[in-house]
Amino acid sequence: MTIDKETAQAHTTAADERSFDDALILAIETSCDETSAAVIQGGKRILSNVVSSQIDVHVRFGGVVPEIASRKHVETITLIMEQAVREAGCSMRELSAIAVTQGPGLVGALLVGIVAAKSLAMALDIPLIGTHHIAGHIYANALVHELRYPCMALVVSGGHTELVLLESEGRFQVVGRTRDDAVGEAYDKVARALKLPYPGGPHIDKLASQAGHAMELPRAWLEQGSYDFSFSGLKSAVLAAINQTRMKGLPLDEAALARGFQESVIDVLVVKALRAVREYDARQLLLCGGVAANRGLRAALAARCDEEGIELLIPPGNLCTDNAAMIGAAAHLKLKRSQWTELDMKADPALPLESWSVTACGTVPC
Ligand code: KG4
Ligand code: ZN
Repeated sequence: MTIDKETAQAHTTAADERSFDDALILAIETSCDETSAAVIQGGKRILSNVVSSQIDVHVRFGGVVPEIASRKHVETITLIMEQAVREAGCSMRELSAIAVTQGPGLVGALLVGIVAAKSLAMALDIPLIGTHHIAGHIYANALVHELRYPCMALVVSGGHTELVLLESEGRFQVVGRTRDDAVGEAYDKVARALKLPYPGGPHIDKLASQAGHAMELPRAWLEQGSYDFSFSGLKSAVLAAINQTRMKGLPLDEAALARGFQESVIDVLVVKALRAVREYDARQLLLCGGVAANRGLRAALAARCDEEGIELLIPPGNLCTDNAAMIGAAAHLKLKRSQWTELDMKADPALPLESWSVTACGTVPC
């Protein structure tokens, strides 16, 4: 729920005194296994971006354990927020707003960031902006590039695989989504079957680059014209290939398997993303989410976009995986429209992206 403009303007805070181009947002991200805080100026300049990963704790369980994730966030969140403000060279009193990931994510993990954000916003009497995690992944691009609308975002992370059309700034329309596993999830499950550590994506990426050839594996194109994805059939085909080889006592060419899996994933992502760009007359293609760090995917998309004269934007690796800077960039869309969140805001593990779009307003183009 957002606070109306009149109420928003009644607050006499640093946000009112500073223009939105200079506004300092302290952003917090705790949706999964990274505790992160960042200070972003004017929605674009990263003054600090502190990320504390819990991977070392979860790795022995082969995946993220929600209860442990929440406890680790509780242990570190205050220190990480303080470090972010210190590294930014500002004081808490100079902050214009507090942004926090509201969803999607693990509910217990989200709650830790939300409680910290609410407490700070209340103590400092500045606006709170509950922010969508995927909007953050998409607007990570705005921290390093100039976005031109309409644009198409290919979101590939551990929990999401989506094609999102942005007709204009801050307005999201999901045109395709996975019907089963997210692409990062498929990477992690395949890696687990190959006894590679969590998170498996980077390991499969490396293994695939060492292969002499690719194992032939299926591609799920779904119905003609569909922008949806499905990776569970491919994952099952990989698991079946591993089991059959082991049962027959044959050696498994793990690199060829990793390359076959990766090629199958990339083929479908690239073909559907480029078709969506053409159909919706998008001026740019934005790659975002943790799997955007995949070298094979980056290279394949770059080559195809180059051939077709499509401008491709990819954030640097540290802005592809979960971080708070991206949450600050997305939150600025709402701050400059005075579309703040009420202090009774709740974590929403399944927050729909479209519902987080900016709403029509006075002077700022929507
Ligand atoms: O966006 P992210 O940091 O967290 C979520 O919001 O899910 O994405 C994490 C996912 C994991 O599944 C991880 O295996 C995958 O991104 N990933 C990769 C690579 N680096 C991270 N997948 C493929 N290739 C990579 N190089
Ligand atoms: Zn993410």
